[in-house]
Amino acid sequence: MSILKFTTQKIDRNAPCWCGSGRKYKQCHEKFDDRLRKAELEGHIVPPRRILKSAKDIEGIRESAKVNIAVLDEVASRIKIGMSTEEIDRIVHDMTIRAGAIPAPLGYEGFPKSVCTSLNDEVCHGIPSENVILKDGDIINVDVSTILNGYYSDSSRMFMLGNVPEETRRLVEVAKECVEIGIKNVVPWKFLGDMGNAVHQHALENGYSIVREIGGHGCGLEFHEDPWVSYTSLPGHEMMMVPGMCFTIEPMVNMGAADIYEDASNGWTIYTEDGKPSAQWEVQVLVTDDGCEVITY
Ligand code: MF3
Ligand code: CO
Repeated sequence: MSILKFTTQKIDRNAPCWCGSGRKYKQCHEKFDDRLRKAELEGHIVPPRRILKSAKDIEGIRESAKVNIAVLDEVASRIKIGMSTEEIDRIVHDMTIRAGAIPAPLGYEGFPKSVCTSLNDEVCHGIPSENVILKDGDIINVDVSTILNGYYSDSSRMFMLGNVPEETRRLVEVAKECVEIGIKNVVPWKFLGDMGNAVHQHALENGYSIVREIGGHGCGLEFHEDPWVSYTSLPGHEMMMVPGMCFTIEPMVNMGAADIYEDASNGWTIYTEDGKPSAQWEVQVLVTDDGCEVITY
């Protein structure tokens, strides 16, 4: 048995490429495969083929993302003080269904609603409720995930309601900058740890912390695919980023300490241990030959 997880099987150079492009292997992914094989022999983690997206997959994911973004735009135009998070759930559910798509969270591992709504010290996976009413000074993350024709997209934004204290506004702003820095650090043939560490440094420089236990994920053919994406990882570590990989950048930035706990009563919602606010923006990116395409924003 080979010690390489990546295939060592030689493909006939004149045979059609495994990626489905219809081109000959030697004119398509041959050099790409050589590069991955070399990296793996050097001890790096390289992506398995099943998570590399074909041109057809990418088209499907982009279409799914159009719905995903339109739903978030709709939430942005309607969110207001006095509204319940249940109402946000209805907006997301109804608009997604009207677009011919499915809200990915609904029923996912038993999740009861169509969107995650996480307020203030809730880090993520807040469950919409008739009893949670948005009030002046709240910050909220609305995390929308969409399935269209079997293709998944995922993104989230922060909203600030009324008079949010200056120090909390800054947290929301820096969390957004963290995602922008993540996007700039998606460089093919470098490592997820290079990207994650750049994100982490920015949070630390601003006096914040980043949640360690929950990160981003591959996304496209499934809701959560490999790789798991950490934002507290180290340069040169984690999976190599290569063209065709699609994953989320979604660091959870805490104003205080990084420690978190899970709500024992619902088994979903994550809170900051110290009760200080947490902010998160999420985008989905596709690694390209010279950087990345932002699929959702
Ligand atoms: N977008 C969230 C994530 O990727 C969705 C969590 S699963 C849910 O982590 F069921 F809680 F929605
Ligand atoms: Co996600």
